[in-house]
Amino acid sequence: MSKSALDLDHPRTHERGDPGGMRERIAHFPTLLQKGWDAAGALRLPASYREATTVLCHGMGGSAIAGDLAADLLRYDSKAPPLTVHRDYGLPAWVDERTLVIASSASGGTEETLSGLPLALERRAKVVALTGGGALAEKATAAGLPVCPVPLSGPPRTLLPYALGALLRLLSGLGMAALDEAGFRAAAQHVAALQKRLDPSIGTAQNSAKALAHAMRGRLPVIYGSHVLAAVGRRWKGQLNENAKSPAFAEELPEAHHNSVVGLGGTHPELQRLFVVLLTPRSAPERLRLRALLTADMLAEQSIPYHSIEPSGGTPLAEVLEATLLGDYVSYYLALLDGQDPTPITAIDRIKARLVK
Ligand code: PA5
Repeated sequence: MSKSALDLDHPRTHERGDPGGMRERIAHFPTLLQKGWDAAGALRLPASYREATTVLCHGMGGSAIAGDLAADLLRYDSKAPPLTVHRDYGLPAWVDERTLVIASSASGGTEETLSGLPLALERRAKVVALTGGGALAEKATAAGLPVCPVPLSGPPRTLLPYALGALLRLLSGLGMAALDEAGFRAAAQHVAALQKRLDPSIGTAQNSAKALAHAMRGRLPVIYGSHVLAAVGRRWKGQLNENAKSPAFAEELPEAHHNSVVGLGGTHPELQRLFVVLLTPRSAPERLRLRALLTADMLAEQSIPYHSIEPSGGTPLAEVLEATLLGDYVSYYLALLDGQDPTPITAIDRIKARLVK
């Protein structure tokens, strides 16, 4: 079958193009979210963990992004402490005995994440390991730390909903987030209903993820996220990189109005090849929503194709989940349209293998 004849509405397209079963893993998004919430709820944390006044999520790639999504949600929550995501070796100098450190690695073998653990112990930080096993689970267990088990049911990036559910439950259980069981359940139901509308079995005419993948095809995606959806833009970028094997860029509003827009207004020959996605939460302040409109006007003036997304969830968490799942599906459908198997991440595996040598 030639690429142009690929029909996303035909089951065989998915069977042939997705031998690793990425579509099933994405479909499990709502289930994984709930499982992560429940697993963290079952954890026994030392009472002293309630004394933490700052939170550090330490992880890389697919095991870091839940921290970013949570950080965006907590930033506007008056009950919440500052939450920082650390994507590097070691730990920031400010981490101390009043820091809750979430060491997150699906495989448990990521060297950057492992390098933080002895420092966290030395500084008597309150550590929780969020992992599917490996050296992280071993070392955390040996040190008597709580380990929230991550099911190794797929590549780390497919476990984002599990990690996010777990993280939110941990933070809410420690009194660090206003989110309660009912708020979580309502958002989880919203994303479960959305999954049914974005599923491969739903035809392109009714499926916004398939339609968007078609519109994006052959173009360079740039995702503009704002407010609670800023990090969701980063998730789209990562999923477009890893699933669709496409370069992609993430920007944030209002920051982009202080630099990137100048580049968009220029005459670079590749400008017409961009495809911009604007992720704007309805819960965002009016000024920010106005900025999204101004960006759209500017893109239209430059004849740069764009698509505006305003999730309908009704709460910040529902907005985050909706926009995240949509991006996951868009990256999957784009992979198939481009003849890319969504599951393998050969470049990442090669670098990891070379570092081991
Ligand atoms: O998507 C991926 O597979 C990567 O981004 C990994 O998540 C990243 O390399 C870190 O590995 P782990 O999640 O096992 O710590």
